[in-house]
Order: sequence, then C-alpha cells, then structure tokens
Amino acid sequence: MSTPDVAVIGTGRVGLPLALAFADRGLNVLGIDSAPQILDAVRDGRMPFEEPGAPEVLERVTAAGTISWSDRVADAAAADHVVITLGTPSFSHIEIDLRDIRSVLDDLLPHLRPGQSLTLRSTIAPRTTAFVAGYVAKHRGFAIGDEIFVAHAPERIAAGKFFEEIVTLPCIVGGVGERSGEIVGELFSVFGAPIVQTTPEQAELAKIWTNILRYATFALPNLLMMDCEQYGANVFEVIDLINRDYPRGGMKLPGFTAGTCLRKDFAFSEERSTAPGMLLAASRVNESVPLFLVEGAKRRLGELAGRKVAVLGLAFKSATDDERDSLSHKLVRLLERELADVAIHDPWVTTPNQSLEQALDDAHAVIVATNHPEFCTGETLAAIGERAAPNALIVDPWNCWNVGQVFGYATELAALRAG
Ligand SMILES: NC(=O)c1ccc[n+]([C@@H]2O[C@H](COP(=O)([O-])OP(=O)(O)OC[C@H]3O[C@@H](n4cnc5c(N)ncnc54)[C@H](O)[C@@H]3O)[C@@H](O)[C@H]2O)c1
Repeated sequence: MSTPDVAVIGTGRVGLPLALAFADRGLNVLGIDSAPQILDAVRDGRMPFEEPGAPEVLERVTAAGTISWSDRVADAAAADHVVITLGTPSFSHIEIDLRDIRSVLDDLLPHLRPGQSLTLRSTIAPRTTAFVAGYVAKHRGFAIGDEIFVAHAPERIAAGKFFEEIVTLPCIVGGVGERSGEIVGELFSVFGAPIVQTTPEQAELAKIWTNILRYATFALPNLLMMDCEQYGANVFEVIDLINRDYPRGGMKLPGFTAGTCLRKDFAFSEERSTAPGMLLAASRVNESVPLFLVEGAKRRLGELAGRKVAVLGLAFKSATDDERDSLSHKLVRLLERELADVAIHDPWVTTPNQSLEQALDDAHAVIVATNHPEFCTGETLAAIGERAAPNALIVDPWNCWNVGQVFGYATELAALRAG
C-alpha cells in the first residue's frame, strides 16, 4: 500500500469500524493495535467482534488494498492524519485513566512532523484535548493549529449501529488553535454527515453529557422500580400512568444500565464537578439493580442456597457480544454469594455458557439480565414453562414479554401473554 492518509491507533470496537469506513471511502488507512488477537483476526479477514456490516467492508477494503495493519505506533508517523481511538477507562479515584493515550503519545512524539493532524476520537475528560495539544507543544515545540493540528472529534455512535450512523450523526469537532478544526473537519467530511465545529472543551462536554443524559435517564425508572416494590406497586403501570397521553417528556423503562461507556463517562464530569454527588447517586441506583433483583427473588422464594437460578444474558445490552462492564456479571457474582446454583445462557457472547435448555432445566428462578431479541419471544417463555421447575419465578426488569411483571411466575406470565 502507498503512504497512508490516515492512521487509526487502537482498532477496537470504535477504531476498527472507523478505520474500515475511511478505507471504504478510498483513503489509504493504517490500522494500528497492540493486541495480537485483533491483528490476527483482521489479517485473516475476520472481525474480532460483532458489528453489523463490518465483515463485508473488511472484505471489500482488503480486496481494494486500501487498508493495512501494524502493531507499531511509530508507523503512524507516515500518515497525514492520526486518529486515536484508544480505551479511556476511569480509575476508581473519579479520574480518567490516560495511561494508554500518554503511552501512545510518547511513542508518536519523536516522529510527528509539520502538517500532521492528531484527532482524539476516544471519550475524554474535559481539558484532555488541551493537555494533549500542550504535551505536543511542550515536547516538540510545534505551534498547534498552525504546524500540527489537534482536535477532539468524539465518537457518539452506539455499538452495532456504526455503518448506519457514521453517515448521519453530526460529527462534532473541537479544534485547538487556528486551523485544527478545519483540517480535522475536512477529514471526517468524507462520511457526508454534518460537521459541527466548536471548542475542544465543548466537544468533550457534549460527548460525556450525551452519555450522562442516558445514564441518568435510565436511573430514574430503575429507582422507581425499587420504590414500587416498597409500596406493592407495579412499576410498568406507574410508568404507563406517567407517560400516557402526557405531552412533556416520558419515563423510560427499567433495566440493567451499564457497559463500558455509560458506567464510566459520568466520572469524567465528576472529576471537577462543582456539584459533586448527583451523578454518583445515579450510578449507585444503576449499580444496585442486580442486588435489588436478587433480594426480590429471595423475598419470594426464600434462601437461594442450593437452588438453581438461570441467568439469561451476559452482554451489557441487547444484541451485542460486548460483555465489558455488564451488570449481568455482577448479578452472577451476587447469586453465587447466595450459594445459588447459577446457570447462564447467552447466544451472543464468546464466554462459554450453557444452551437455553440446559440453563432452564429445573431452574427455580429465571432472571432476564439482557433483553436480547431471542429471549423476548413466546417460544422462550414457553420453554421456561416447560423446562423450569413448576411455576418458577421469572424476573424480568425489561418487560421482555410485555406482561408487565418484574417478578412473576411462569404460569401467570403465560396466561397474561395469552390474554
Ligand atoms: N465501544 C463503544 O461503543 C464506544 C462508543 C463511543 C465512544 N467510545 C470510546 O471510544 C474509546 C475506545 O473504546 P473501545 O470500546 O473501542 O475500546 P477497545 O478497548 O475496544 O479498543 C481500544 C484498542 O486500543 C488498543 N490499544 C491499547 N493500547 C494500545 C497501544 N499502546 N497501541 C496500540 N493499540 C493499543 C487495544 O488493544 C484495543 O484494541 C473509549 O474512549 C470509549 O470510551 C466507545
């Protein structure tokens, strides 16, 4: 391949689809990752994880010769544009963990040359773009926005929707100095979606508050679900009362709210919050849903020790193989601490698990932890009725079968669904 136009560093769930999409627009792309399993897979023509549409694009750009791969960050130096899509976890100190970004910057620094752009696509705490620009200026003496272009262009696409949303979602670009926004905006304009220019801090805030909005929005029905249990009320009926024909806003439905982005991004805002605590409270609510379900099951069944509990779903959300920061794992740990016999079924994930039939056989309780589409069918409900212990408890915070019971019994749910 000729000299790359773009180097994408960190070809994980965000970086790999992005690298493929650039290559599919005819740009010469170099995908860089330190993980051998990622590079082995793509060099072999396989996607290392689920992303609808990606296998076809991988095949196409491989055949067209517009993509190549490397495990050396220094190779990015050959590209005019460097896009960083590395992971940005948070420390348990309410602080962004910038170690991957700093390590890659240190590898890149000696090779940077005038005219190059450096885009931070990862989710970052406010002022990280200014830090990166300052770091490059401090160590190499470049004028940012004039000789080297640094910008934040946050990824706001949801996993599983990349190829649909890259061409439609407005692309926010916050450039440092005179021309960074323009140069990086031009790069991302190949996708045809609107480019929205702003400051780096506003781009950073817009991204993390996009996620905070979702995280806090889901904390409300989750808290309501717990309150309803206290009052013997049905959360789905209360939500219907709130929403029905009401023109201002709408309460979402309860469920497990986590995943690698939602669970951590609010911490980036809390780093310097002038009203600390509010978002931590939202986090406490979402994080306590698994315990609420376990305690609710115990209230109805008695002790769980030695009783079989089937957990349906390990992925952090519906229709994905991504298990990172999934609350299902927390649920499983809590059930194990009750000495329950836990059986798990999830057809999406790569972690070994049992078949639906094996998981359900003689289960005293079935908990829908992930609302995968195949769980929310009449067949799955019928399979529970047939295979689980007589009148097993079914725990479904998602209202998967549209019968409106967080805690219900197999026969009751089947009758409600039939009715
Ligand atoms: N996953 C999502 O749906 C999503 C959505 C929006 C934003 N984000 C944000 O995008 C960023 C990336 O998230 P992700 O889910 O793609 O993470 P990821 O862990 O899937 O990808 C990061 C990749 O970087 C690689 N890497 C780590 N250190 C490296 C190094 N020194 N050199 C080269 N490669 C290195 C890892 O091997 C990994 O493949 C994060 O900031 C995340 O918050 C993620």
